[in-house]
Amino acid sequence: MSRTNYLRIIFPFGPSVLFPCVKGPDRFMPAIRRFRDVEIRRAARQDLAMLEEIERSSFQKERFPRSLLSTITSSEGFLTFVAEEEGGIVGYSSAYLEGRGRARLISIAVLPRERGKGTAKLLLTRLEGGCAHKGVAVVGLEVAVSNVVALRLYFSQGYAIKGMIRDYYGKGKDAFYMVKRLR
Ligand SMILES: CC(C)(COP(=O)(O)OP(=O)(O)OC[C@H]1O[C@@H](n2cnc3c(N)ncnc32)[C@H](O)[C@@H]1OP(=O)(O)O)[C@@H](O)C(=O)NCCC(=O)NCCS
Repeated sequence: MSRTNYLRIIFPFGPSVLFPCVKGPDRFMPAIRRFRDVEIRRAARQDLAMLEEIERSSFQKERFPRSLLSTITSSEGFLTFVAEEEGGIVGYSSAYLEGRGRARLISIAVLPRERGKGTAKLLLTRLEGGCAHKGVAVVGLEVAVSNVVALRLYFSQGYAIKGMIRDYYGKGKDAFYMVKRLR
């Protein structure tokens, strides 16, 4: 379902004009994104309730339980970041540090009402930076072959398909295995 957003153009001497934009104004205007006040920071235990909310609104069967969310926000073996705006946390990304220079992106999600504003790109970039800092050279991930939005996100960030895993998300629900070399 698409909702109509409006881009307000303000002229110095005269009335402002509203232009309808189906996907949201800042999907088309990277310059506007810079003015969004989003902070990407490491996740903490007090973020658990919001992470659960993001999981509930973003995934179905493959949703992470609270116990796993608790682990990824507290264990040294994971890197987890949240995107925080004035109103609270709007998205998160997490990677498992597998060792030997490899990490696995295990989750990335943004609240439905906040999508299309560049938040996932910020979260992924920050996560990759954190992984590189920990000595990671290659990040891998699985994504449903039907998840076109996520696939586009990963392609745009330099990930390449390395293979397909049959029935990864259940019978008939295949996944692509994708990787990105960080250095
Ligand atoms: C996938 C997801 C995290 C993207 O979050 P987002 O904040 O909306 O993404 P961004 O705004 O940063 O967009 C990043 C890229 O994703 C793609 N994208 C985002 N929204 C899209 C849409 N509605 N249609 C097509 N591509 C889209 C584009 O390639 C976009 O880059 P561009 O703006 O330069 O074209 C979000 O849709 C989500 O939470 N989905 C549910 C959970 C999920 O499927 N996670 C992935 C599991 S593998």
